[in-house]
Amino acid sequence: MAKEILVLTGSPRRKGNSDQLADAFIRGAAAAGHNAHKFEAAYKDIHGCRGCNMCWSSGTDPCVVKDDFFQLAPLIESCELAVFVSPLYFGGFTAQLKCAWDRFYAYGRKTGKDRIAIKESALLLTLGDTDDATYKHAVGTYKGISEYLGWKDRGIIVAKGVNGKMDILKHEALGQAEALGKSV
Ligand SMILES: Cc1cc2nc3c(=O)[nH]c(=O)nc-3n(C[C@H](O)[C@H](O)[C@H](O)COP(=O)(O)O)c2cc1C
Repeated sequence: MAKEILVLTGSPRRKGNSDQLADAFIRGAAAAGHNAHKFEAAYKDIHGCRGCNMCWSSGTDPCVVKDDFFQLAPLIESCELAVFVSPLYFGGFTAQLKCAWDRFYAYGRKTGKDRIAIKESALLLTLGDTDDATYKHAVGTYKGISEYLGWKDRGIIVAKGVNGKMDILKHEALGQAEALGKSV
């Protein structure tokens, strides 16, 4: 059955490694008849969570911070699968992705739990290093968020050793991302 899929990217580098990985996933998903919605956090005005715990205080809005998160919220409420895509920045995710991700907090709270459609997640990650230890904290963060929000993991694809924008083109992760898109 066709799925609505949120592909949330975090790199500020257009057509860079992680962006191309996201596009490969989307190609696969489209070939399988799914509908992927690419949302590029790095080109939006999304601030970090303030931790004010005022989520849903208006009765209708997830957050009191009125920024581009309000463009993302409808996708969180309509997509069944969320794919997070980022380069590794100092062992973690880009700040742009993390700002958007932290705002999912509203949907983990009692008042937001019934409004989120996402049930499954996947991670696409790119990094310059080739050592597995380099990205273990990022994977831990992804798993922690997914578990907190009760999502089933559909796959983690890591492209190691890619720095230059075109490095991803000869990396096996590109084919893996497309295959994952087809298989979801
Ligand atoms: C600010 C910054 C921090 C980075 N930190 C790491 C790191 O901790 N480990 C690593 O292996 N690569 C690191 N990199 C390299 C990127 O993860 C790598 O080049 C990635 O493929 C870039 O993806 P993009 O083209 O989608 O932006 C860093 C790059 C930048 C700009």
